[in-house]
Amino acid sequence: MALIDEITKRRTFAVIAHPDAGKTTLTEKLLLFGGAIHVAGAVKSNKIKKGATSDFMEIERQRGISVATSVMGFNYKDVKINILDTPGHEDFAEDTYRTLSAVDSVIIVIDGAKGVEAQTRKLMNVCRMRNTPVIVFVNKMDRPSKDPFDLLDEIEHELQIRVRPLAFPISSGDTFKGVYNIYEKNLSLFTTDERQTADAATVDFADIASPELDDYISAKFANQLREDLELVEGVYDEFNVEDYLRGELAPVFFGSAVNNFGVRELLECFIRIAPSPRKSPTESRAVEPSEEKMTGFIFKIHANMDPNHRDRIAFMKICSGTFERNKNYLHVRSGKQLKFSSPTAFMAEKKSVIDFAYPGDIVGLHDTGTFKIGDTFTEGEKLKFTGIPSFSPELFRYIENADPMKFKQLAKGVDQLMDEGVAQLFTSSLNGRKIIGTVGQLQFEVIQYRLEHEYGASCRWEPISIHKACWIESDNKEQLADFKRRKHSNMALDKHGRDVFLADTSYALALAQENFKDIRFHFTSEF
Ligand code: G4P
Repeated sequence: MALIDEITKRRTFAVIAHPDAGKTTLTEKLLLFGGAIHVAGAVKSNKIKKGATSDFMEIERQRGISVATSVMGFNYKDVKINILDTPGHEDFAEDTYRTLSAVDSVIIVIDGAKGVEAQTRKLMNVCRMRNTPVIVFVNKMDRPSKDPFDLLDEIEHELQIRVRPLAFPISSGDTFKGVYNIYEKNLSLFTTDERQTADAATVDFADIASPELDDYISAKFANQLREDLELVEGVYDEFNVEDYLRGELAPVFFGSAVNNFGVRELLECFIRIAPSPRKSPTESRAVEPSEEKMTGFIFKIHANMDPNHRDRIAFMKICSGTFERNKNYLHVRSGKQLKFSSPTAFMAEKKSVIDFAYPGDIVGLHDTGTFKIGDTFTEGEKLKFTGIPSFSPELFRYIENADPMKFKQLAKGVDQLMDEGVAQLFTSSLNGRKIIGTVGQLQFEVIQYRLEHEYGASCRWEPISIHKACWIESDNKEQLADFKRRKHSNMALDKHGRDVFLADTSYALALAQENFKDIRFHFTSEF
């Protein structure tokens, strides 16, 4: 098959949601449609159970699941779909941000009763940075839900994106009758029997004015639906796929993932409108997927579960060309030629060695500690893909060596964990002490546990009061030098030796921004 055909048949995306909205359930139903799994319950939730923050077995269990579900590929109607999994716990949000750098679109799941929640808002901000096209699935309509128009307003307002319903629910909770599919002009009637692959009872219904509608859902709900749809047509513009592809308009579906209701409609629309691999930005130029030469970048590194082997799996997204097993590729950062004898692809929960992979595919590469997040592979060109930034961490602690005999082990462990993107390391300009910054409390425990079990090192945490770390730069060299001198005790270097300002409070940050007008303060590492 020609490269261009391989590209057009691929859809690489992530399902994102606030914990509990139904991400795992929806993912599983999508896999059932693709025939990739055959029984419900095959996809394990990668959530860390509530209250289990100190339960390291739980963390390990979660890590085991994340390896198995990192990428779930399946075929549906000649389309090759790659679902990239994102961690179920918000303390691992940074992992999710990075995964979003490797997808071409996302499906956002929202709980119909809860509406837009905190984590959804944060993740949407990341999608917006990259203009990622999003489709919204409002889930749990079998439960009493918010009014659909209120929900649509809330999504538009809270997620800052125009919306266009392509399906509309008929009531919710006990009286949930089903969904009218505006996109397909048919009516799906809700039944609670958990049919998993069959079409739900769907009736073609191009003309909802027909009195026949009353027979299906009663006169009361039929009239309500007619009114609602009239309002939809009055309020919302026609669905424009170009606006969706630019990340400016989100089509909205309603359903109930656990009942497999509304999922087929979502998938059908998804394969038709969701983008196939798009061009990827690099520091020097944009790379088109159809370029003959292979390029790709590493967006995730996963440590092996076996503590006796420090091997890791690096996940590479193919951006252009055809990736081949046993072919030499340039690892741009080190300048070395590397080849891979057993690159793996992921189909549902299974891993297999592959000979070829195409743009949009994710390949698992065996790594003995050489790779870092963001590393680029090419056939010789010195490219560096962008759009994989580190985000300004929110929690900080000094890391201290608790075992003087194990200094080397600690340094190596910290170094490798940082390459994996578990957290960020800063070195204080004031006292040279090492500071670890994370986005969640749990990471400190994970780091300590893994240092001990994988590297035989032992660490101790000490408190430090920092509100936010931001990268600074300026064209005004004098002002920059003055700032660094005055704020000496709040300055640090990141892993790449760049200047970072550690603001004690939001007030101190605001004041610094006010007083040093020529200095740019950045909240992501890419600027
Ligand atoms: P997450 O990955 O987004 O965190 O959510 P997950 O799919 O694990 O779903 C969270 C809970 O919501 C699960 O219940 C799941 O069964 C339920 N759920 C998902 N979709 C629907 C839906 O359409 N309607 C209703 N009523 N519930 C839904 P749980 O009790 O936490 O787990 P379980 O024991 O049922 O698996």
